[in-house]
Amino acid sequence: MKVKTDKGTKEYRTVWFDRESNAVRMINQPLLPHRFEIIDLKNYRETASAISNMVVRGAGAIGATGAYGLAQGCLAFRGNLKDFWKHVEKVYQTLKNTRPTAVDLVNGMDFVIREVKKGNSLEECQELAIKTSQKFADEDAEHCKMIGEHGEKLIKNGFRVLTHCNAGWLAFVDWGSATAPMYRAKRKDKEIFVFVDETRPRLQGARLTAWELSQEGIKHAIIADNAAGYYMKRGEVDMVIVGSDRTVAETGDVANKIGTYEKAVLAKENNIPFYVAIPMSTLDWNLGSGEEIPIEERDGEEVLFAWGSDGKGERVKVRVANASSLARNPAFDVTPAKYITGIITPRGIFKPEELVKLKD
Ligand code: MRU
Repeated sequence: MKVKTDKGTKEYRTVWFDRESNAVRMINQPLLPHRFEIIDLKNYRETASAISNMVVRGAGAIGATGAYGLAQGCLAFRGNLKDFWKHVEKVYQTLKNTRPTAVDLVNGMDFVIREVKKGNSLEECQELAIKTSQKFADEDAEHCKMIGEHGEKLIKNGFRVLTHCNAGWLAFVDWGSATAPMYRAKRKDKEIFVFVDETRPRLQGARLTAWELSQEGIKHAIIADNAAGYYMKRGEVDMVIVGSDRTVAETGDVANKIGTYEKAVLAKENNIPFYVAIPMSTLDWNLGSGEEIPIEERDGEEVLFAWGSDGKGERVKVRVANASSLARNPAFDVTPAKYITGIITPRGIFKPEELVKLKD
């Protein structure tokens, strides 16, 4: 996507790989929307930390970062092929243990490993790792673009769309999942308006989705998370589109950012179509139901404190809660398939129970 900064407009992906320096490069997301900076991660451990600290976040972006991080680890290795595979296992586990809910992370790395196994020498394995991680990232961008093509047809001129969290291009390699239909609609000159849930506690909606929509020139308003029901009941929301961090192919149950479940229940209560947009890498083919999805519980600090700009471009942290109180902080929830109108995929729009048809 094109990014406008005070230095001009330039095309960016959220994350990419620089072979020469063996560095994973990415947009430093905690600094947004106040500062736009690129960060270089010089080894796979730094790349893993960037995932756990949410320098990069969002299912598809984590998936591509995992794939690149694995390639980065492969490329740095010196030694024989037997030791290479021990090293790959260590790199894989380090990256995997960063965040548990988004299945794209494991799917991205497995995609790379399957190809690397075909190599007969260290050089061949390293070459395959680089090539396949790039292929995974390119596919992520392409899948999101296709989600846009299919999803755009659901958006009528004048529609008011509500979204939760950031399933935008910052959560993927490019385009985004939930936002891709909106970006396509805009390019087709449809007038749309987006309600952006602020998405406490990390405010991905207020910080990232709102920034993306501003960059795209799409009219929007940030709303407090608990205002969504109010606007739905007043008839001001025509449809909801969200992303997902893991969707169970067997049932169509969807894990997404905490608060998604209550938006889905409210949408059903108010007869508002509720869509989920996902690339193929967000499908989990192993689990039997949404109840089995591992839900990340993050540090309570994220609830007790808030981060923002001091007005001079510096990021500051302030306590918002009572000093002696503890906090609970589940990062995701699961929306049962019965609340979901349709799942927008790169291969078309499906009812949750039809996802099984997508098995190759
Ligand atoms: O905790 P995050 O920011 O990595 O969470 C991911 C998300 O942004 C959302 O859950 C999003 O809606 C789906 S990821 C494409």
